[in-house]
Amino acid sequence: MHDTIRQEAQRLLVAMTRDEKIDLIHGVDGMWTRGVPRLGVRKLHMADASMGLRDDAIPATAFPASIALAATWNRDQAAAYGQAVAEEFRAAGMDVLLGPGVNMYRSAYCGRNFEYLGEDPCLASQMVTSYIRAAQAEGVSTTIKHFAANNSDWHRSCSNSVVDERTLRELYLPAFEAAIREGGTRALMTSYNLVNGEYAAENRWLVHKVLREDWGFDGVAMSDWEGIWDGAKAFQAGMDLEMPGGKRWGAKALKELLDSGRVTEAELDRKVLQVLAWTLEIDQMKARRTQAPRGKCAAHAEVALQTAREGIVLLRNREGLLPLNLPPGSRLTVVGPAACPTPTSGGGSARVNAIEPVTILGAISRMVGPDVTVTRRDWPDDLKQAAAVVVCVGLSAESEHEGYDRPWELHWQRDVNMIRHCMAHNPNTIVVVVAGGGVEMASWIDGTAAVLHAWYPGENGCQAIAEILFGKVNPSGHLPITIERSWSDAAAYGNYIPAGASFYNEPDYTSQCRATFDVNYAEGIFVGHRHFDRNGKTPLFPFGFGLSYTTFDYSALRVKPNAAGGADVTFHVRNTGARAGAEVAQVYVGDVQASVPRPVKELKGFARLVLEPGQEQETTVSLDRRAFAFFDVARQEWVVEPGEFRIWVGASAQEMRLEGKLVI
Ligand code: BGC
Repeated sequence: MHDTIRQEAQRLLVAMTRDEKIDLIHGVDGMWTRGVPRLGVRKLHMADASMGLRDDAIPATAFPASIALAATWNRDQAAAYGQAVAEEFRAAGMDVLLGPGVNMYRSAYCGRNFEYLGEDPCLASQMVTSYIRAAQAEGVSTTIKHFAANNSDWHRSCSNSVVDERTLRELYLPAFEAAIREGGTRALMTSYNLVNGEYAAENRWLVHKVLREDWGFDGVAMSDWEGIWDGAKAFQAGMDLEMPGGKRWGAKALKELLDSGRVTEAELDRKVLQVLAWTLEIDQMKARRTQAPRGKCAAHAEVALQTAREGIVLLRNREGLLPLNLPPGSRLTVVGPAACPTPTSGGGSARVNAIEPVTILGAISRMVGPDVTVTRRDWPDDLKQAAAVVVCVGLSAESEHEGYDRPWELHWQRDVNMIRHCMAHNPNTIVVVVAGGGVEMASWIDGTAAVLHAWYPGENGCQAIAEILFGKVNPSGHLPITIERSWSDAAAYGNYIPAGASFYNEPDYTSQCRATFDVNYAEGIFVGHRHFDRNGKTPLFPFGFGLSYTTFDYSALRVKPNAAGGADVTFHVRNTGARAGAEVAQVYVGDVQASVPRPVKELKGFARLVLEPGQEQETTVSLDRRAFAFFDVARQEWVVEPGEFRIWVGASAQEMRLEGKLVI
């Protein structure tokens, strides 16, 4: 926080009455702060921002889901996305984005995975940092959410995440830490769940110790909507703002707390100062902008489209069926529930009202031109005549939605039987999956010719699907998650929702505080690719995986200690195929010998390289000291144990192309 802002906030604080102070730390009318009208401190207007500006009354660009953005592994794309969303906020007169979200993908069942950035703290941290910097440069505040360990939406307000500190520090907190320390987010939202026995908003260790003391966060910590149960506890934990109203911190309740001495005036002043400073900062950030704000516009549609182009992952391409090259006079059959309409997003507060979204059927029909016939059939009986069949399946805004968890298996009758039926009659069966995370594929994938994972493509991402199918775009998305063969292979298996419970619950948004249940994060730090390396099983598709229509060679690895106490990892990548493409080179680190259990390897850096055919490029990924460290709970610090570290450069977590070492 800037000194002049702090001074101005101090000046206002002194001029405020106690009632005005109490009013300033709880919201009003759903999405507003109250401001201090008498002193000219204005109200701030907020809106959800997981996939663009969410306000039913304002037309906005529907971007692909955050998980699709993570699949681009492109920091510049994250910046373009963040900037575009923020421009729409500013044009709509909004001040605060309620997003982005960075809860780690622990289980495919989590109903909000599509709003987050995948399973890996390094990938999520780097993407979110770029997003936040670009968004806040537009003069709005971001709100990183949902802090913390909110990795399921199954009875989300009764769920107690039992996680050891090392696991929190190494896996579930780093993306928040990066959002604060690197990205500089001015606000944070706590989650609905409990963390180690205390509701997140009431958890003093989480909010006061980790967020304020350890990370030095000097922005606003707000509750999720009605996510405070015990007003005094949340007050003492170091929260600043109750949203959306004053359920626990309303005038009557807060006065009682103050008068009884359960909470102090000094702490009230600290909170007020924080909200004042935040308001002044947003005005200052806005004033620094010279460019006019832009509402929904062609440039933003282009950012959305480009995100889809780079985020869609080609998972399978048997005998190079794709890109399709259909002879004139041929027929292409498009089937499946997601063909038309195609879900643009998951549901809940992430959902942007896309006005005229493109569908897969529509995009394909437009692309093929008059020489090829596209037919849409629900249960096609003339499949043998088709040159290829595109089966569009997946989840939707109803099945994947905050407030409950989502299925892992595709709908048996509607989706899986449809895929089987098509495969039985046509060898060129291409499956397009539309969903916010991994789905069960092992039982049907073998007979398919090709599979694309399109996530939720936003308003125009179906055009990108068609462009990839027909080769106008070379796919370059890489999985930000691991896709298991079966749920029993997943890290969280056996330690997810209570044993015997059904995965789906009745929508449970902000339920009353009832009996809580524990979710034991017994696998600790071994989640996603860390889990698969450890248990020796092979996932169906590893973290970091994604096919291209070209091929890449890696060579000339050099590892040099650097001034940051880490290492510069330099290598060459060459496009050895016949067409331009982008490769995501991933740098993994493993400690050869350690005094604590450590993953075989962990992602610590990456580079996305766009290469012409035959082009070779040298690139350097710089790793800092922390890339080699583990969190030592007893010492309360990050520790690098001297010795040898392996360094790999891979095309996925299961495909190491280069190997080197570093001795520290
Ligand atoms: C969600 C938040 C959202 C808020 C406001 C809650 O139900 O969990 O992510 O920002 O509503 O819409």
